[in-house]
Amino acid sequence: MTPRGAGRSRPARSSDRPGSVAPLGVGVGLRPVHYPEVLERSTGSGPRPDYFEAISENFMIPGGRPLRVLEQVRASYPLVLHGVSLNVGSSDPLDESYLDALAALCDRFEPAFVSDHLCWTGRGGRNLHDLLPLPLTEEVMRYTSERVLRVQDRLRRRIALENVSSYAAFVYDEMPEWEFLAGIAERADCGILLDVNNVFVSAHNHGFDSDAYVAAIPASRVVQIHLAGHRDEGPIWIDTHDRPIREEVLALYERTLRLLGPVPTLVEWDDAIPSYDDLLAEADRARRILDRVSEADPRRGATHASAAAAG
Ligand SMILES: [Fe+2]
Repeated sequence: MTPRGAGRSRPARSSDRPGSVAPLGVGVGLRPVHYPEVLERSTGSGPRPDYFEAISENFMIPGGRPLRVLEQVRASYPLVLHGVSLNVGSSDPLDESYLDALAALCDRFEPAFVSDHLCWTGRGGRNLHDLLPLPLTEEVMRYTSERVLRVQDRLRRRIALENVSSYAAFVYDEMPEWEFLAGIAERADCGILLDVNNVFVSAHNHGFDSDAYVAAIPASRVVQIHLAGHRDEGPIWIDTHDRPIREEVLALYERTLRLLGPVPTLVEWDDAIPSYDDLLAEADRARRILDRVSEADPRRGATHASAAAAG
């Protein structure tokens, strides 16, 4: 089938191939509770992450402390922007004012890349504040790919789409999630943010093989990997981001890196947030694995040691 985007003008993009991203190493999410230590260490001493990921929507207000903090952080660290409200799979029209704000944020902070989720988050103008799964059909794939192309045209840069954790499936799904994700990335010519914890959680909830999922993802499109903790009590596991990363997820992460090559990695922690030092220690668990794989695989050189050169 001919992609709907075929023939349209290509936007100016920050890199020629989605996978050609700066070797960022291992980063953490920028959270207000850590602002004092983040700012103190950005110019001083003490453990630091290789880069920060900021939630786009938290910085879409004009002026104020959040933007001042982000300016200071950006002066000392590489930065990526991660959104939760693009609503790219919704039947609502794309939110032009949201795209304006995101474009302004990208122009101001020049992130290494910008990402959001392959999901829908609201309908009829209402934001449900949840990352809801899409029907895995050819029609939705075509529809969503077209919208991703329009977003990229508006932002004049590629975006990366993240696989979400899910707890239910549609009876009319036509394909596995990995085929849906890879198909949209191909048609929209966008990047993939592969959340390995989400793969692990959804594999349990839906009964698929997490290694088969990872093996089906086109390596050249993966710009970042997410890691997080999840709750695994009961029949349905929940992506809670409120505890350390499980060893099984780190093992899947290492197998993923061996398949894809070294990929910039981000540790997410959004509830019961630990101290800054404990969060950085969690990032070190991932960094040890990324370094080990990077030493054996020079494909991308995404170790933290090279992050400074990328900054
Ligand atoms: Fe994630």
